[in-house]
Amino acid sequence: MGTLSRFGVSVDSVLLDKFDKLITEKGYSNRSEAIRDMIRDYLVREEWKDDTRELVGTITIIYNHHTYEAAKKMTKEQHAHYKQIISCLHVHLDAENCLEVIVVKGAASEIKHIANELIGMKGVMHGKLVTTTTGGSLVS
Ligand code: NI
Repeated sequence: MGTLSRFGVSVDSVLLDKFDKLITEKGYSNRSEAIRDMIRDYLVREEWKDDTRELVGTITIIYNHHTYEAAKKMTKEQHAHYKQIISCLHVHLDAENCLEVIVVKGAASEIKHIANELIGMKGVMHGKLVTTTTGGSLVS
C-alpha cells in the first residue's frame, strides 16, 4: 500500500449533485471511497485489454440442458479447458434450466476464448464474463 495522496477536482455543481445522489444510493459513505472504486474499476478494465496478463473471472451461463445435448457439450468443453477452469457451480433452476458459474484463471486471451465458446454454445440462453484481477497494482 502506498502513501495517501490528496488531489482537488473541479466539477460542475449539477454533475456533482448527481454524483453525490448516486453514491449515496449505492451506500458509499463519502466521495473518496466512490472515486477509489471507480479508479480501481478503470484500472482493471485496462489490465483486461492486455491479452498476456493473468487474470481471474467468472463466466455465468443459463442454459436448457434438454436442448442440443447442451449439458454433455458443456461438460466436454469445460474438461478441454481444465487448466483455466478452477471451479464450477451448477444449479438446477427448474426442470429444464441450469445456471452455471464457472471460475476461470489464466491469460486474458485464453479466458476470453473459453467464455466465447461457452456463451456461444447452442442451448445457452444468456451468458456473461465478469473479469477482475488479483490486483498487484491496486491498493486499498
Ligand atoms: Ni442442471
